[in-house]
Amino acid sequence: MTETLADIAQALVLDGKGILAADESTGTIKKRFDSIATESTDSSRRDYRELLFRAPDIDKYISGVILYDETLRQTAADGTPLAKVLQDQGIIPGIKVDLGAKALAGHPGETITEGLDGLRDRLNEYASLGAKFTKWRGVYHITDESPSFAAIHANAHALARYAALAQEAGMVPIVEPEILMDGEHDINVCQAVSEEVLRSVFAELANQEVELEGILLKPNMVISGQDCPDQNSIDEVAERTLDTLKRCVPAAVPGIVFLSGGQSDELATAHLDAMNKLGHNLPWKLSFSYGRALQAAPLLAWGGKSENATAMQAAFIKRAEDNSKAATGTYA
Ligand code: 13P
Repeated sequence: MTETLADIAQALVLDGKGILAADESTGTIKKRFDSIATESTDSSRRDYRELLFRAPDIDKYISGVILYDETLRQTAADGTPLAKVLQDQGIIPGIKVDLGAKALAGHPGETITEGLDGLRDRLNEYASLGAKFTKWRGVYHITDESPSFAAIHANAHALARYAALAQEAGMVPIVEPEILMDGEHDINVCQAVSEEVLRSVFAELANQEVELEGILLKPNMVISGQDCPDQNSIDEVAERTLDTLKRCVPAAVPGIVFLSGGQSDELATAHLDAMNKLGHNLPWKLSFSYGRALQAAPLLAWGGKSENATAMQAAFIKRAEDNSKAATGTYA
C-alpha cells in the first residue's frame, strides 16, 4: 500500500505523540552550547543529538524529528546514519528546508524567509536521504508598525510555494508562521495579528492548491508579549488560542503542532494540556513540535559531558512524556 501525504501527516500526530524540533542551524546550536560552556563542533553536535535520538522509550512519545541538513547526512558513533537510528524505532525523520529569515527590503526590522530558489532539487535529495516531512518558518515581528502588509503577504506566499513544492516531492510540509513573543504587546494584539497572519497563510495555500489533508500547521500560541506587564492565566491563553485557530484553520488540516517560542518549558506543556482539556470535538489534533521546551532540560543535564548521558536522556524523556500527556489533555 502506498503511503499518502495524509497518512504521514496523521502518523505525526497519532496517539498523543508529537515532534521533536532538533533542526537548530549551526549558528543557533552554537548559542545553545555556549550556554553550557560546550564547544560546538560537528562531533559534539552529533553526540548531543545521538543521545536524544537514542533516549530509551523515545518512540512512546515522539512521532517525528525535524533535522538540520548536517544531521540528516551524519552517522552515529557506530556508523549508523542518524536518520536510520530514528527509522529503526518507527520515528519519522523530517528536515528544515528554509534558508532563514532575511531582512525584508523597505521594511526595517521585518523579515522574509528565503530558500525557494533551487528548492525542488534540494527536496528531492532530502527525500532520497529518508526525510518524509519538512519545515519552513516564516517570522513575524509585532511592533507599533509591524507586521506590515508586505511582510504578512510575502511570508504567506513563500510558505505556500514551499508547501506545494514539498508535496510535489512526496513530503508533508509543516507550515510554520511564527509571531514572535518579543515586545510589550498584550494578548489582544497577539490574537489580532495571529488571525490576520493565519488567514493570509490559508488564502495563499488555497491559491497554490496545497492539499490541506497533507500538511501540518505549526503556529505560535496566542499569548502576550514577553515584556507585557499583563500576563494571562493558562486557561486564558488556551481559550484565546483555540478561538483563533477555530476562526482560521480549515477542518481538513489533520494536526496543529505548536512551537514553544520563548515560553518556559513547563508553561508550554501546561498551555497545550489546557487546550486539549478545554477543546471538545476539535477537527484537528493539537500536539507539539517543540525545540526549546523539549531540549532546555536535557541540554542543562548534559553539560557537554559524556558521563551525564543517562541523566540527560532521563531529563529529555521526562519532558517528552509530559508533553505527550498534554497532547491528550492528561497532564497533571
Ligand atoms: P521552539 O519550540 O524552541 O520555539 O522551536 C520550535 C521550532 O522549530 C522553531 O522553528
